[in-house]
Amino acid sequence: MKIHVEICAGTYCAMMGALNLGMMLEDVAKEMEDEISIEYVKCFDHCNEEDPPMVKVNGKPIYSASAEKVFEVIMDLIKKERDVVKE
Ligand code: FES
Repeated sequence: MKIHVEICAGTYCAMMGALNLGMMLEDVAKEMEDEISIEYVKCFDHCNEEDPPMVKVNGKPIYSASAEKVFEVIMDLIKKERDVVKE
């Protein structure tokens, strides 16, 4: 299963660091391109409801997204996938 990361590139999220976060995630994704894909989206339309920046990992929203939060979710998914393969 490939992990799909969507990064909000809307104005509000961009002002709150989404693009810097995206660059960090792209660096990691280059090393793991078989496992991670990155996409920028215009806006998730959650600007007024939750804290930016917003990222989705396989559809799961992460608010106040930081590299640490996003990597934690990605590593959990990779670990679960590898555990399933071992079984
Ligand atoms: S700008 Fe990011 S959810 Fe709208």
